[in-house]
Amino acid sequence: MTEIPQSKIAGTGKAVPSKVLTNHDLEKIVDTSDQWIRERTGIERRHILEEGRTNSDLASEAARSALVDAGVKHEELDCIICATISGDSPLPATACHVQAKLGAKQAIAFDISAACSGFLYGLSLADSLIRSKRHNRILVIGSEVLSRFADWKDRATCVLFGDGAGAAVVVPSDGRAGILTTYLRSDGNLAHLLHTPGGGATFPATHETVDQRLHFIRMEGREVFKHAVRTMVDAARNSLKQAKLRPEEIDFLIPHQANIRIIDAIGERLHLPREKIIVNVNEYGNTSAASIPIAMDEARRDGRIREGSTGLLIAFGGGFTWASSVVRF
Ligand code: ACO
Repeated sequence: MTEIPQSKIAGTGKAVPSKVLTNHDLEKIVDTSDQWIRERTGIERRHILEEGRTNSDLASEAARSALVDAGVKHEELDCIICATISGDSPLPATACHVQAKLGAKQAIAFDISAACSGFLYGLSLADSLIRSKRHNRILVIGSEVLSRFADWKDRATCVLFGDGAGAAVVVPSDGRAGILTTYLRSDGNLAHLLHTPGGGATFPATHETVDQRLHFIRMEGREVFKHAVRTMVDAARNSLKQAKLRPEEIDFLIPHQANIRIIDAIGERLHLPREKIIVNVNEYGNTSAASIPIAMDEARRDGRIREGSTGLLIAFGGGFTWASSVVRF
């Protein structure tokens, strides 16, 4: 086994909008079919945030649930990290809005932009902050409202995404449960394969950039697919090696929920039985940074993850970024 863990996940929470958009609903919006979406992605429906609510509302709801689960009071938090690519606004960080909504006055608050790998980047940073003894009660959130950044005229992307938030409270470990390993990678040379071109300093908002639909997510699906499988398998093997664990020794795998074919390909390459793999892409679609913490919270609450369970978290997203972590509850 690896060295004694210094930090652990003490509690988790999630928040998903009640409004559901099914594949059949999408058939009325773009030229697609329930059959195509199910066969190519495994997605059956996704949850869409109601008008009038925003990212930090979802993030705060997930955070409150995680705080109750961890038995940590909001005033005890000293750091809030929000992983998101669909924040409330470019300035300030969505984490600052969450801090205000929770009343967590003592906490520093900032966002991480690492797309679908954002939650694992945040978890790794939280582990480092606890190891360096700078912070003790850290809230790591993955929260996305991708429905507001999806191009509802582009059938190749809009069918994939959904909204939701997941959160974890990270505290010093008691020695047994803990974040055992973290592994982070990036490759900015491939940024163009998955990006939102407009709305930043390169193409600030003008009538023209809006007309050209530059403010929506663009993706080369097939290329992304290949890289996602290769890099997530690489990340899984690296973390397992670091933890001195064989794949068959882990109790669960939570892969980023982008596409059931990606998840199945990873399971096959790692020789993991399907029952050890936590899947909810059918229900929520791709919720980017929120997908792993939502799945983790659901699996903890329904008993698939128990006290003593050891599992692997793996993610891949725009950047490109990819990441993995071995955690024990
Ligand atoms: N409905 C019907 N037909 C469609 C749709 C749709 N919604 N979308 C595309 N098609 C068509 C295409 O036009 C194409 O038609 P053609 O053959 O006549 O040209 C055909 O279906 C095949 O298109 P592909 O894009 O090659 O389909 P593919 O099998 O690759 O599936 C998909 C597309 C689902 C996007 C897949 O490539 C994928 O999942 N990629 C990875 C996504 C991912 O992992 N993202 C993770 C990071 S996301 C983030 O960081 C925010």
